[in-house]
Amino acid sequence: MKQTVLITGGAGFIGSHVVRLFVEKYQDIHIINLDKLTYAGNLENLKDIDNCANYTFVKGDIVDRSFVENLFEQYQFDGVIHLAAESHVDRSISNPLEFVETNIIGTVNLLNAAKKSWGDDFSNKRFYHVSTDEVYGTLGATGLFTEETAYDPRSPYSASKASSDHLVRAYFHTYQLPVVISNCSNNYGSHQFPEKLIPLCINNIKEGKPLPIYGDGKYTRDWLWVNDHARAIDTIYFNGVLGQTYNIGGHNEWKNIDLVHLLCDLMDIELGKTEGTSRQLITFVTDRQGHDRRYAIDAAKIEAVLGWKPSVTFQEGLKNTVQWYLANHEWLKNVTSGNYQKYYQDQYND
Ligand code: NAD
Ligand code: DAU
Repeated sequence: MKQTVLITGGAGFIGSHVVRLFVEKYQDIHIINLDKLTYAGNLENLKDIDNCANYTFVKGDIVDRSFVENLFEQYQFDGVIHLAAESHVDRSISNPLEFVETNIIGTVNLLNAAKKSWGDDFSNKRFYHVSTDEVYGTLGATGLFTEETAYDPRSPYSASKASSDHLVRAYFHTYQLPVVISNCSNNYGSHQFPEKLIPLCINNIKEGKPLPIYGDGKYTRDWLWVNDHARAIDTIYFNGVLGQTYNIGGHNEWKNIDLVHLLCDLMDIELGKTEGTSRQLITFVTDRQGHDRRYAIDAAKIEAVLGWKPSVTFQEGLKNTVQWYLANHEWLKNVTSGNYQKYYQDQYND
């Protein structure tokens, strides 16, 4: 193998797409997937590539400093693509400390281990930190987040991600650690845990349960197909300039209520139901605390400098996503059994 690359959080939603892309595309790179397998991590997501010669799974916790240091000693990584995180805003509101531990301490442990393992020789080394547009805070009706927008995180989740971004940059400026960062908008696609809006609504429509819309439903997000995010990560990992940040987004803003209408109509078609059936499940519920009104990414830099752009329209990507969830009934059943029921009851007073 030419290189050994560590991908953290590879059993999660985005991570599993990144691992699959790298394992299939770069057969001369040994991919080590480090994941704690929290509620959000699922090896089922990777069963199609599990036996590939260039793939190894390691179960472990990035918060465990000596474990992380030993792993770097064992594998002598050439690069790191860091996705492991606690990722759900609602969970960060009920349990902020877990987000501080994983997203901040976990990131520092990886930075320190990389620095120690790489010594003074950073040639051909790279630490890629995957972050979110939520670090920029919230927008009014107009404007876009650029790479120059000042950080203004407003939830425990986004504050922990912002903090990790600052630490990654600090390691670049202080130690010249070869880092690159990207900040992406909302992802959707296959294998997303049904705590997030789109898979939660797909699952509830299947079950004939209410679709909980926070507040007035006019909160706006910019949606990107997860496979396009994985393509962007591939591009940035190999071609991004060290020390720089790249915003990734779909130029695809939707108010939540409009998105859920579109999803309901797609589900009616796929399930062979009369038009309008699923929309009847929409229920407005108590708003999320501190709910950010609007996110929207200016992706001009990555498009102009690295030549990346989204490959599918939202309608195509969403149809593909709905069809995946309907075809993968067992996957959905497995992840919504057990602890998910308790989470759902607590979050939605169900
Ligand atoms: P996810 O919650 O689906 O997956 C996170 C993965 O990290 C899981 O497999 C989990 O087991 C693992 N993990 C959690 N804590 C760990 C620990 N202490 N040690 C090792 N592994 C641990 O998250 P996702 O939606 O795939 O997001 C991945 C990354 O991308 C995160 O850093 C997130 O902030 C970022 N991001 C997500 C989105 C989005 O829309 N989902 C958008 C932009 C950026
Ligand atoms: O912007 C990138 C971020 O997108 C990522 O960094 C996060 O990891 C990811 O979880 C996502 O955060 P959001 O909070 O935007 O995603 P979520 O799917 O939780 O919510 C999308 C919108 O839908 C948001 O305005 C809240 C609303 N919502 C969500 C849920 C779960 C509802 O109205 N009802 C719900 O039940």
